Amino acid sequence: MTPTDSPLPASLSALQDRLRDLRAQGQILLQNGDRGFGTAPSNIALIKYWGKHSDQQPQNSNLSLNLGSFRATTEVVVRGRFYPQGSAPALHSNTVLFAGMTEPAPADRKLDRWISRVFADWASEIRMHVRSENNFPSACGVASSAAGYAALAAAVADLLQLERHFSATELQTWLTEWARLGSGSAARSAIPGAAEFVAWERDDVDGSFAHPVPASPGFELGHCLLVLDTSPKSVSSSEGHEAARHSPFFAVRAAGMERRFRAMCAAVAAGDFSTVATLAEEDAFAIHAIMQTSEPASRHLDSRNSQIIARFVAGRDQARVPAFWTLDAGPNVHILFLREALPFVRDFLARECAGGGASVLWGGKGPGALPGSRARAVVHTDLPDDRAFRMGEPA
Ligand code: DP6
Repeated sequence: MTPTDSPLPASLSALQDRLRDLRAQGQILLQNGDRGFGTAPSNIALIKYWGKHSDQQPQNSNLSLNLGSFRATTEVVVRGRFYPQGSAPALHSNTVLFAGMTEPAPADRKLDRWISRVFADWASEIRMHVRSENNFPSACGVASSAAGYAALAAAVADLLQLERHFSATELQTWLTEWARLGSGSAARSAIPGAAEFVAWERDDVDGSFAHPVPASPGFELGHCLLVLDTSPKSVSSSEGHEAARHSPFFAVRAAGMERRFRAMCAAVAAGDFSTVATLAEEDAFAIHAIMQTSEPASRHLDSRNSQIIARFVAGRDQARVPAFWTLDAGPNVHILFLREALPFVRDFLARECAGGGASVLWGGKGPGALPGSRARAVVHTDLPDDRAFRMGEPA
């Protein structure tokens, strides 16, 4: 553990203690070259996480749907090995190879710290080489850190064969908590379908986890992204969470947050589309009001996407179809809809893309974070189940 790290939440700490015991019993053995493999989806938040306490604790409860066809796949390879006395110094560094890189590079500070924490106090001589790629373009408004950290946690779970050592609930806790400690929104990517993260009022409370949200049977939302701009963000999400405190609207949003979050959970559970849509659009405006008045400000709601949103809302209201928009920490417009709105959504997108300078990516529902062979099945079969949910994909 580095001096800046807080203690782990008790539930995660108990699981880490189990890893120490498993090592002592010879049930976990790591050697140079051992591999683990995992995959996880990105997600789109309908009630967004914006602002965090120390150690990656989201300050407000939040809820998202995973985007099963926007996935990160990650392999971890052990550098180093266990020594009988367990006290050997680490001989290697953590390295990464991301898509587009020709040579491995040292892991950045955040990833380096994450890996050290996972192995702290029970396998500190172990380092890792991480290879990861996304099946969606980066900087397109689809949260790649969420997919990335959830896939990384799944790959480490596979390496340690946690499916053998932990119950399904323990494994989910381990995955969501380690994903959160990498990136707050990644906790939800460990969960299939709709996921909620219930935040607590104090920053040191144990027990804030991501959980599945029971959705009404048949309440299937299609998803697509109108891609307008893929330039990298000038203010990262991590900076944005911090900068948000300086906005006068931060406290205003926080005051009604729990009520709106509970209303959203209830609407998802009841399949109440119109409430889901109203709350999601309201929260998108609220978070962008904060972003625009933060220090430094992030201005993702600009004249181009504002006009697109206005045209979308006018057309949707006139056609009376179940569809809504949201914007994450980027300028690209997410559209979510029920199946009956598909013809409207297709026509709308065709018109918006007609002049050039915009394109469409179709998301969809799929599994959460998966370690090991189940991950390989998803990747190698190209998500056959998922196609059923990619309702917007042109025929
Ligand atoms: C706007 O999870 O990317 O996408 O915890 O600093 O990695 P870090 O931030 P991140 O923030 C996500 C913000 C958001 C809303 C959301 O997904 O809930």
